[in-house]
Amino acid sequence: MYEHDVLIIGGGLAGLRAGIEVTRHGVDVAVISKVHPVRSHSNAAQGGINAPLTDRGDEWEGHAYDTIKGSDFLADQDAVEIMSSEAGDAVIELERMGVIFSRGEDGRLGTRAFGGQKVARTFFVGAITGSALLHVLYEQSIKLGLGVYEEWFVTKLIMEDGVCRGVVAYDIKSGKLHTIKAKAVIMASGGSGRVFEPSTNALICTGDGLALAYRAGAPLMDMEMIQYHPTTLARTGILLSEAARGEGAYLLNSKGERFMEKYAPDYMELASRDVVSRSEQIEIDEGRGIDGNVHLDLRHLGRDYIEQRLGYLEEVSQEFLGISMAEEPVPVRPGMHYIMGGIKTDYNGATIVPGLYAAGECANVSVHGANRLGANSLLDTVVFGRRSAVHALEYIKSVESASKSEVDLKSEQVRLQSILDRPKGESIAKVREDMALGMTKGIGVWRDQSSMEGALENLNNVKTRVPHVSVEDKGKVFNTNLLSALELEFMVDNAEAIVHGALMRKESRGAHFRTDLPERDDENWLKHTLVYKDDNSNNGVRTDTSPVKITQWEPVKRVY
Ligand code: FUM
Repeated sequence: MYEHDVLIIGGGLAGLRAGIEVTRHGVDVAVISKVHPVRSHSNAAQGGINAPLTDRGDEWEGHAYDTIKGSDFLADQDAVEIMSSEAGDAVIELERMGVIFSRGEDGRLGTRAFGGQKVARTFFVGAITGSALLHVLYEQSIKLGLGVYEEWFVTKLIMEDGVCRGVVAYDIKSGKLHTIKAKAVIMASGGSGRVFEPSTNALICTGDGLALAYRAGAPLMDMEMIQYHPTTLARTGILLSEAARGEGAYLLNSKGERFMEKYAPDYMELASRDVVSRSEQIEIDEGRGIDGNVHLDLRHLGRDYIEQRLGYLEEVSQEFLGISMAEEPVPVRPGMHYIMGGIKTDYNGATIVPGLYAAGECANVSVHGANRLGANSLLDTVVFGRRSAVHALEYIKSVESASKSEVDLKSEQVRLQSILDRPKGESIAKVREDMALGMTKGIGVWRDQSSMEGALENLNNVKTRVPHVSVEDKGKVFNTNLLSALELEFMVDNAEAIVHGALMRKESRGAHFRTDLPERDDENWLKHTLVYKDDNSNNGVRTDTSPVKITQWEPVKRVY
């Protein structure tokens, strides 16, 4: 049995930033992660991190408004105000920690344009910004002595009288289950992109933390808001950063037209992601695509510029399609990239479950609303990673001790053994694929009542198969087969919340575009959708709504 004052689930940017904060306060803390921290999905973020810097004449209110407009007015404005006003300090702090941000000709930190913003305020490290930030935060965490349970998998939150008091976790190397008690737990376990196929997300993005919190009683909020990134590489679905368009790339249809002129004349290729993805899909659906794609054209930028600013993208394009961006346009299409929804928290990262905090993609602080702006996710991780730590530290002052909880460990041992003991049955990979393809079909760039009901029917069918998937590997050491079975169960919980959120929202807003209800309906739907796990109800869920916090920006029609 292990014990800490604070336990952080997830070793990506939000988790490490939270861990650094707690360590700085001299409080006992550890991170637990199913992968080595630098293999976390934060690593994959490419284009940059947004920050308005006052000394450049960019005030935080401008960034806040762009974010709120980008969110189609679903973001909570008090949370956005905090994120935008703390952004400058967060980025400067990262630079001081050692992030070697790309610089401009004048030697100052360089910026590039990103979608949905009129001001170029995205700070970047080539096209490997997430990786650069993650490595620096990891170095800092080692320097400060932050402990990491590396390659440990959390199977359950320990709950006592409705209060979160730690976790039950599986040490992947030994196959042993352990209790880790904690006065506060911060969930920073990333998103659930792999509930869809294809996705730009790493295979580890299985929504574990969202499901753990959901099972513990926390509502998942606005789960229907699934971001389709406009430029994923044809055939593979790999992300090609928005930085390409930020640096001036064009989107072209089969006639060679810059079609964004029709849909977003002011912002062109740099409209918000939901708008650009829909525009691409219209071109493709109406027969002006190229084999189900559109073209991303960078040729006019020149080879030197591409290699210097977008070297990683050129590498990906060469490696996977054999195309040099300097010579040929690259085929791209919209692909599932991010979930705006997540565990409902306040702007201090607190969930409704005492002792449980959340930050990063698994959380919904409500700064992204119905559509996240590119380069706001890295910002979200560091701002709310830090804040969740500060408030968890405050919370634990009133907690005398962590849990006793032998029982949790025993019941989990029995549960895991029963999965291992199943007779040969369905393949985990096949059930996972069927679920994910059904989600993409029903909850895509376009959706309507019938497609969403189709996704629900498919999911209900998948649910009947999940208890029959079999684990071929019966061993203890590195049983990734068993982990896949557990991840599948987590993904199904995420899918459930996504489908119910989507069916609930009877309007189109941001990424939730219903062809049968194409208008935004502020009168009835300027509110968040909430999905609670409820084993006593017919369909296993309880749904509700909560109001959107408006501080200074009344919703207006969104035009780019
Ligand atoms: O396009 C990108 O570089 C992705 C960035 C993001 O999702 O924030």
